[in-house]
Amino acid sequence: MDIMDAIKTRRSVRKFKDDDVPDEVLAELFEAARWAPSWANTQCWRFIVIRNKDVKERLAGTLTPKNPALKAMTAAPVIIVSCAEKGVSGFYRSDAVTSHGDWLMFDVALSVQNLMLAAHSMGLGTVQVGAFNVESVDKILGLPDNIAVLTMVPIGYPATEGGSRTPRKELSEMVFREKYGEKFL
Ligand SMILES: Cc1cc2nc3c(=O)[nH]c(=O)nc-3n(C[C@H](O)[C@H](O)[C@H](O)COP(=O)(O)O)c2cc1C
Repeated sequence: MDIMDAIKTRRSVRKFKDDDVPDEVLAELFEAARWAPSWANTQCWRFIVIRNKDVKERLAGTLTPKNPALKAMTAAPVIIVSCAEKGVSGFYRSDAVTSHGDWLMFDVALSVQNLMLAAHSMGLGTVQVGAFNVESVDKILGLPDNIAVLTMVPIGYPATEGGSRTPRKELSEMVFREKYGEKFL
């Protein structure tokens, strides 16, 4: 699949077939994830693969009420939890280089996007889930203090053709020339 096709046809998938996603396939996705760019090549991303039904149910229980991904958390054969080592991205020695502080979200997002695009190109569906109780997930997964959980990504073969139909803003609303607010197109 051409990269522009992959980017433009990927859509969040929240309904999955029962078919398993073998570890060898997951390994290819992590291969895509690990080649993402990161702050000073610090590669702060960490991933946890969840297949256990009981753990999936407990993780689903941390989602916000009415989260559209609730059923996906147990329907998907696998959940990939994206985490980050704190205090490395955006830091020189132990000092934050910019006023943004820790850049961990930025780096992990790049790597998860690689993973999701690779998954899509291989016929797999994903949805990134960020609306959940972080402290509860910390406990369920036994995360050490230096590791932050960021998103959970149910992954599997899509049960329906095409994902959600989510529109995008026009370039005129998001791209400016020379100064914020000056039209690009
Ligand atoms: C950081 C982040 C957090 C998200 N959290 C959730 C979530 O908790 N539940 C959900 O159903 N979708 C979640 N999504 C998916 C978005 O709703 C979805 O990407 C967006 O509506 C655009 O649709 P598309 O992915 O189909 O293009 C999240 C996406 C991102 C990037």
